[in-house]
Amino acid sequence: MFQLVHRDGLARIGELTVGKRKLKTPTILPVIHPFKPEPWLSEVKKLKIDGIITNSYILKKGDYRKDRNLHDYLNFDGIIMTDSGTFQEHMYGDIETGNREMIEFQTSIGSDIVTIRDVFSEIDHSREEVQRGMETTYERGKEASLISQSYLALPVQGGLFPDLRVKSAELMQSIGGEYYPIGGIVPLMERYRYSDVIEIILRSKQGLRSSSVVHAFGAGHPMFFPLLFLAGVDVVDSSAYIKYAREDRIIVDTGTIELKEIAEELPPSPYFDGISLGELKQMKDDERRDIIAKHNLYFTVKEISKVREEIRQENLWNYAEYRSRSHPLLLEAYRRLLTFYDFIEKYESKSKKSPVFYTGPETLERPLIKRFIAKESVSGNFKKEIRKPYSYFLDKPEEAVETPFGNISLFLDETYPVAQSLFPGEYYEKDFDIEKFTRPEWDRYLKLKIDYIFKYQFGKGLFEIIPMENIELLRSKNTGKIRNVLTNGQIILSLRASDGLFSINLNSSRLLHDNFPYPSHRVVIDGEVTEFVKEGRNVFSKFIRDADDGIRPGDEVIIVDENDILIAYGRTLMNKKEMLEFKQGMAIKNRIKSKE
Ligand code: GUN
Repeated sequence: MFQLVHRDGLARIGELTVGKRKLKTPTILPVIHPFKPEPWLSEVKKLKIDGIITNSYILKKGDYRKDRNLHDYLNFDGIIMTDSGTFQEHMYGDIETGNREMIEFQTSIGSDIVTIRDVFSEIDHSREEVQRGMETTYERGKEASLISQSYLALPVQGGLFPDLRVKSAELMQSIGGEYYPIGGIVPLMERYRYSDVIEIILRSKQGLRSSSVVHAFGAGHPMFFPLLFLAGVDVVDSSAYIKYAREDRIIVDTGTIELKEIAEELPPSPYFDGISLGELKQMKDDERRDIIAKHNLYFTVKEISKVREEIRQENLWNYAEYRSRSHPLLLEAYRRLLTFYDFIEKYESKSKKSPVFYTGPETLERPLIKRFIAKESVSGNFKKEIRKPYSYFLDKPEEAVETPFGNISLFLDETYPVAQSLFPGEYYEKDFDIEKFTRPEWDRYLKLKIDYIFKYQFGKGLFEIIPMENIELLRSKNTGKIRNVLTNGQIILSLRASDGLFSINLNSSRLLHDNFPYPSHRVVIDGEVTEFVKEGRNVFSKFIRDADDGIRPGDEVIIVDENDILIAYGRTLMNKKEMLEFKQGMAIKNRIKSKE
């Protein structure tokens, strides 16, 4: 069972539970040779990696006893995924072991994640061959689900044919299960065809449920991680750490460097501490390559935790964009990802914890920004202002201002991403004339501003619901900035300083409920949990029955029962598709009991 913990668009930190074992995603499963596990398995334990992948075909051919438990044999209590021999078939031709026997074998040795014998779609195969292969893969998936109770990995194939990738994903998920590796991408990785890999991943995701675990088979190169995880991959596996070491190649963030090419010094790594460049070059082959492989594994794992950190900070777009500029083919892949606007946009919140940093023209193509521009930019000639927040520096409140996002209403100048972004040629001014901003004539301007922000956020102006003269603003004494919106002496909205959007409370949830027709801004929960939710419990996705299609992660929503009775309100972690597809985990942070 997979659950979402944090997210940044399609990228997510999740937790997968298989039996009594857990995998924190995104993660890497290092490839461990079943008969030569050391010294790698010790490194895996040292680095606290919670899963590995090994090969059941090699085990079977090596006469490994089918009644011997793999966790005992390897002395590893983390998740063990086993692959099925398909990759060996791709490398060496027909391997003469069938689906059924490989499934039974993997099940009997106690593998946590059992992979079926999928048919590898080769990149030079015709459409017909690829189609036949993926249909066979589907039949084998069905067979596996009948003969084994194990947790199954059901690979998506489909070669380079985008529609077949979608189809294959749909077929595999119709079998059931939740773990879907994306197969047939190793030859593309080897050719640096990152752009095709991104296309394949996003097509596959289009055919899968949002709650599926997506594993990119053999995509273990750290330079590609930011983009892979941005595209919504949850797991990668890798033997690259050993393969590169065999060629004396050291993994760094921008790719690999050959030891023999290094003249200055070794890249920083605890594994190179106390060893000089000369000493490493002089070592015996085995000893040297072991050290390099350990570094490579270490570096790979560090890059995973770096990406997790970026997801938690909601900064992955900045990071991926910046990292994509280290290699033209990564930039090409990033551009390919941006062509999936319609798909990705649904997973993008209106604001993030991190500001938008401009790295190049692609920055304006990020789904969050593209959506903002499509919705908010207006035509005409307007004044340009390079100091932010713009309205603090324009003599009279203009209708709009020329910004890097196009001409945008000045009323949004403190709202994400307008204020929370940095473009060359602009800066955020700290020393502005607070006096001016607190003069009485600004009152009217600020009221119009909250009306506009409300409309941007909820789709209807606030004054269409409450007359302007009944609105009061509570402002910060120090900065003059709007804090709260009141009517009849009661707070209805709080303007978040972090992103310039409103948080709702019980009063405004009633307003939303009474003034917007079903299902706008609503999440409908099962009658079974209404009492708990009234008491302030968070809403878990498995109790959600319906939701507004327009809801994005991070939105303020009202929670209603199946008769549209208002129960609570809160902030979502998911869009509608995710709310209906995830079987586990929190979907809405409930604020009904929060102090306001
Ligand atoms: N390892 C790398 N690619 C693949 C694939 O397509 N299928 C399987 N089963 N294993 C792989």
